[in-house]
Amino acid sequence: MEYRRLGTSGLKVSALSLGSWVTFGKQVGLDDAKGLLRMAYDAGVNFFDNAEGYEAGESEKIMGAAIRELGLPRDTFIVSSKVFWGGEKPTQLGLSAKHIREACDQALQRLRLDYLDLFFCHRPDVDCPVEETVRAMHQLIMQGKILYWGTSEWGAQRITEAHRVARQEHLTPPVVEQPQYNLFERERVEAEYRPLYETYGLGITTWSPLASGLLTGKYLEGVPEDSRLGLPGYEWLRDLLLDEQGQNKLDAVRELKPLAEELDISLAQLAIAWCLNNPDVSTVILGASRPGQLEENLDALAAVAKLDPPVMERIDRILGNRPDEPERFGQ
Ligand SMILES: NC(=O)c1ccc[n+]([C@@H]2O[C@H](COP(=O)([O-])OP(=O)(O)OC[C@H]3O[C@@H](n4cnc5c(N)ncnc54)[C@H](OP(=O)(O)O)[C@@H]3O)[C@@H](O)[C@H]2O)c1
Repeated sequence: MEYRRLGTSGLKVSALSLGSWVTFGKQVGLDDAKGLLRMAYDAGVNFFDNAEGYEAGESEKIMGAAIRELGLPRDTFIVSSKVFWGGEKPTQLGLSAKHIREACDQALQRLRLDYLDLFFCHRPDVDCPVEETVRAMHQLIMQGKILYWGTSEWGAQRITEAHRVARQEHLTPPVVEQPQYNLFERERVEAEYRPLYETYGLGITTWSPLASGLLTGKYLEGVPEDSRLGLPGYEWLRDLLLDEQGQNKLDAVRELKPLAEELDISLAQLAIAWCLNNPDVSTVILGASRPGQLEENLDALAAVAKLDPPVMERIDRILGNRPDEPERFGQ
């Protein structure tokens, strides 16, 4: 495993990490979760990503039970949660001081932990002053309930505002952002956030390296029943990903396939290695619903060496004319 600094913080995070969205508590029960965590941990993965909104807290309960039953020493791994979607009542949503405090306490209970290493604001909250959010996160740090805080899918301007407020009020600024980043979704990470890496030493933990599986090629001939886009309750994601633009993306995947074969790696490994190749990325968060997927995806680290500049140019050419997807999705 390779370890990267989380921005300019002192935290060393494994270049590949594992998240629980859609999988833990939906497709994966406790026994299988233990298997996935064990495999990841034994491969050197030290970061496990969660959110209060994942399966309404079920993902965190399974993650917490799995960590406990595996007996992983607390000083050897990093755990996150995210606050925003905690329920349907007005006080259970967003980034108010109240919800931030409750969400943190509840995540700690579900995960059965004393502190979170990373706590993310899962989306920006336009109904809450940035200062209120920054102060609430700072207080959690002062109380020892979290070590670092960050944002997810915030615009560069709002992140800059959080830093300005933190500096002015002597509060702790965010150190990390969690954006989507994959072969189809590049703008934010490669352009919008560029000044933030240099100015604030921002680290990024990126999500959906396979665009929910599109980049594995599994959707080229339709939607397999046992796949994410075939799951009851995730029709919205299927409709979003397999719309007209989605069909263009699948055409690109078709073109990437021979390149992956030439390099003797799978499409999934090509897509994940491509994310790892960006030195601004602190860690690529993987998702897997079964052990074979995780095994394949963890091997992407070895595939990075195959992505030399001519190969990267070929990939760019294949994706060059694909229209960008305007909408953002996922949790
Ligand atoms: N901050 C945010 O807003 C946000 C949003 C989304 C995700 N995340 C985080 O990022 C993590 C990863 O995101 P993601 O799950 O969307 O990642 P992803 O890599 O884009 O998709 C993972 C899914 O693709 C399929 N898959 C993975 N490897 C495969 C392989 N080798 N062959 C065939 N299918 C494969 C599996 O689904 P099936 O087997 O069911 O098809 C798996 O669950 C999440 O768990 C979460 O922690 C954060």
